[in-house]
Amino acid sequence: MTIFLLTLLMYAQTLYSFSPDWSQEASLGKAEEFKSRENIYDLPEREWEETINKGLEHALIYPVRVTALLIPFRPLKKFFETDSYDPLRQLIFKGAQEITGFQSLEDIFNWLGVHQYPLEEENQANRFPEYKKEFQHPMGATLIQRDNVKGLTFSCAACHSASLFGKKVLGLTNRFPRANHFFHLGKAALKITDSSLFKFALQTTDEEKRMLKQTKKVMKWIATKKPQALGLDTSLAQVALSLSKRGDDEYATRYLKTALMPRPNDLNHKRADSKPAVWWNLKYKTRWLSDGSIVSGNPIFTNFLWNEIGRGTSLRELEKWLQKNTNTIKELTSAVFATKAPRYIDFFGLQSIDIEKAKKGEQIFNKSCQGCHGSYEKDWDSDEDPTQTTKVIYHAQTPVKNVGTDPLRYQGMQYFAKELNQLKISRWMKTVVTPQRGYVPPPLVGIWARWPYFHNNSIPNLCALMTRPEDRPKSYWAGEAIDKNKDFDSECLGYPIGNQTPREWKKDKAYYFDTLKEGLSNSGHYERIFTTKEGSEKYTWAEKYSLIEFLKTL
Ligand code: HEC
Ligand code: HEC
Repeated sequence: MTIFLLTLLMYAQTLYSFSPDWSQEASLGKAEEFKSRENIYDLPEREWEETINKGLEHALIYPVRVTALLIPFRPLKKFFETDSYDPLRQLIFKGAQEITGFQSLEDIFNWLGVHQYPLEEENQANRFPEYKKEFQHPMGATLIQRDNVKGLTFSCAACHSASLFGKKVLGLTNRFPRANHFFHLGKAALKITDSSLFKFALQTTDEEKRMLKQTKKVMKWIATKKPQALGLDTSLAQVALSLSKRGDDEYATRYLKTALMPRPNDLNHKRADSKPAVWWNLKYKTRWLSDGSIVSGNPIFTNFLWNEIGRGTSLRELEKWLQKNTNTIKELTSAVFATKAPRYIDFFGLQSIDIEKAKKGEQIFNKSCQGCHGSYEKDWDSDEDPTQTTKVIYHAQTPVKNVGTDPLRYQGMQYFAKELNQLKISRWMKTVVTPQRGYVPPPLVGIWARWPYFHNNSIPNLCALMTRPEDRPKSYWAGEAIDKNKDFDSECLGYPIGNQTPREWKKDKAYYFDTLKEGLSNSGHYERIFTTKEGSEKYTWAEKYSLIEFLKTL
């Protein structure tokens, strides 16, 4: 009898698998009870490791095989390798000034802002999966084989991986992604691919032609928008405006009529740009996006849905794929939740942090910042590494606060929340979008590597963040993080500005950030944070520098 019960118990255990609480009521525990969801499915150690490894592969190589938008790779490559005086190129480039100078596929990848894979472990700041042969193109570029043709698309890593002083970091915001812009150009370029010149010059096969035709067809249901500044993303508008080109039924069916006559949507003329988020914060949060507007459901599911609406995919096919591939989603979810932030000392050495100064900064932080951003426990007496955080305590339920930063991004959500919520897939995955008034005060782990700051990149470094809004820099130049000494201000954590700006950055005006443009305002996050109720300054600059010293350790 007991043996029978035991077997039954063991059987029940294999059937039982932990499922995370994705509901609006989810709570991670108050104060001392707070527990991060690093291991989101509570998997046993070995299984967790394997699951993460597979999940990271999905982050790099896009797994959604039913994705509708694929660019035949061979003709694309051939096209860029023909000489630039070729009449076909001249014809195509007439409409696309930006890419006139491209000589090779590598040039496109560089322009797209995607980075090469790390070749060795020492080039990685956090975890990467084991090397696979698919990793030959830059991170984010994915080739999907369909009917014998390889088609190019993009994975999560196109926007969610970066190169940081020679090391590759998965889950760090790509500072210069051009995926939206690429869609925007691609739409224009595709218009002339019917020309016989095109077919002749590239000698496309029948299968390639078919892929191209399909891509042109689904483009009808894709609306694109060029971001307001390089480094920001317009996926939100792309999803909203693409949805408005489909039927308003629960599968957002792709009708020709709605493609030609989309429903009016305010995002046609309004801005809601924002930067891609970092992944290592997810484990501390219970709601998603910069404005916390996704209040329930697994955010990875939502990402697939939104990505695919923006790529013109049939939601019936996507639904089938999602239902059949719950393991893929589980793997990617595990990996994203387990992502770790790069550490300052791994780049600059333990000596680069003044412990006494950081301790002073900690006091200020605990007084003025902790209430919104959470607390970060330290073991200052540790012999090994006094700078490490021993415990992060964030909110039981992720808050949204309005601190007066640019409102356009959070306002943008109201223009399509209803349409998203009524989709059959949204209801099935229990995703609910509720427009908010404000933004989530994000956990500040790895904040030193997250410049430029705020959801709209409007603040070049932390000194600017700690300056009165009216005195903050109204514009700045951005550039890649290649040289630790030249491309980074290690006192202010972020872009060197003014006469410290590396001269090469000013060669390309795409890297110029102008806070006077719509949606790019650098206002807010000062009153009552750095000032008293009466409006006077709370801290001297010496105190602010010690606060920055503390932030280096997070
Ligand atoms: C075209 C660029 C792009 C691609 C590709 C992309 N993302 Fe994002 N992602 C963004 C942007 C932009 C945001 C932040 C939007 C906001 O909240 O304002 C974001 C936010 C997120 C968030 C929410 C983070 C948080 O703190 O709440 C998660 C999770 C995420 N992305 C995961 C993924 C995954 C997984 C994929 C691949 C399936 C993916 N993303 C593909 C641009 C992208
Ligand atoms: C009332 C709540 C609140 C307080 C107090 C507060 N913050 Fe914030 N903080 C926010 C919000 C909300 C955002 C997001 C703003 C945005 O992106 O538009 C933010 C953003 C930030 C960012 C940028 C994060 C990123 O990823 O770009 C930093 C850095 C920051 N805060 C530091 C601090 C420091 C240091 C203090 C204490 C001196 C502090 N904050 C106090 C609410 C708060």
